Amino acid sequence: MLVDGFGRELTEIRVSLTDRCNFDCVYCHNEGLGDTRGPMAPQDEELSTEAVLRVLSVAADLDVEAVKLTGGEPMLREDLEEIVRRAPDGMEVSLTTNGSMLADRADGLVEAGLERVNVSQDAVDPEAFAEITQSGAYDQVIEGVDAALDAGLDPVKLNMVVFEGTVEYVPQLVDRVAERDGLRLQLIEYMPEIAGHPEWAVDIDRVHEWLAERADRIETREMHDRKRYFIADGDGDGEGMVEVVDPVENTDFCENCHRVRVTHDGSLKGCLNRPRVHPMGELTEAEIRAAFHEVVADRVPYYGEFMVQEDGEWVRNEEYVGERTVVEHISVR
Ligand code: 5AD
Ligand code: SF4
Repeated sequence: MLVDGFGRELTEIRVSLTDRCNFDCVYCHNEGLGDTRGPMAPQDEELSTEAVLRVLSVAADLDVEAVKLTGGEPMLREDLEEIVRRAPDGMEVSLTTNGSMLADRADGLVEAGLERVNVSQDAVDPEAFAEITQSGAYDQVIEGVDAALDAGLDPVKLNMVVFEGTVEYVPQLVDRVAERDGLRLQLIEYMPEIAGHPEWAVDIDRVHEWLAERADRIETREMHDRKRYFIADGDGDGEGMVEVVDPVENTDFCENCHRVRVTHDGSLKGCLNRPRVHPMGELTEAEIRAAFHEVVADRVPYYGEFMVQEDGEWVRNEEYVGERTVVEHISVR
């Protein structure tokens, strides 16, 4: 098990399979790389199936317990099912997707061993959805979510990025997960660092307050100090769960971060908001292992120490000197 200088164990990795996407969400940070590239043909720089599996195998040897496959849009990769099927035994495999291609492939993915899925859904009306995602695939996403539930994925988590453009739809989505068994909602605080537009950020505490009033029951998870709000549906015969992921506002967030990221082109990133280490061609398993060691050793929390509160506002901590040198020579392609 790898542990960084702040005592954080490496237990999960997030692997971006592509930076292509058939949506163009206005808030997208594309795993910290900026804009996605649109849905065009794959490029050589994407990790090959074997390279992805090599990274997963090294991670499993290092006691990493879970992998989240993401993008861009990971379902644009035709070898997604193969990657899921051949992932190391015992490693939990989950997927973050925009859901537009899930309807036909949910069963196959579950058969291949997919255990969990997060589907981005920022609005429950097609027009608002189209504006936010720059796509007309609303119906396909709804069908995709249904297919994921029918395929036995439980829970299916809906991701909503909360910012100026979506905050008004929070109540609709909360109703949706309360009504539908198996659905959960993750409200994710908008991170403006890479997506730009700091003016779009909303005060996530307002969302917590609203949820606290609406909820019938609240649980606080010890690890993240993360609240879970349980909302009964109108008929009183079920309840939905809503979680808030608030990296910017919650000062404990980075303290509890146990993941590193692999970019679509095979660099490692110890933090979403920090530069990646540069890709340098094919690496052997031993070299990948060394890369993991170095990146984990270099991990530093981003929010928290890096940011300080001044007059109720989070600002960069100018006195913060913990930023370490970025390791330049690592890649896992
Ligand atoms: N802030 C917060 N979350 C984001 N995501 C993408 N961009 C941002 C951002 N700027 C997350 C969303 C989306 C997933 C693909 O990445 O959860 O569902
Ligand atoms: Fe970015 Fe995901 Fe939206 Fe695609 S679906 S544009 S990857 S947030």
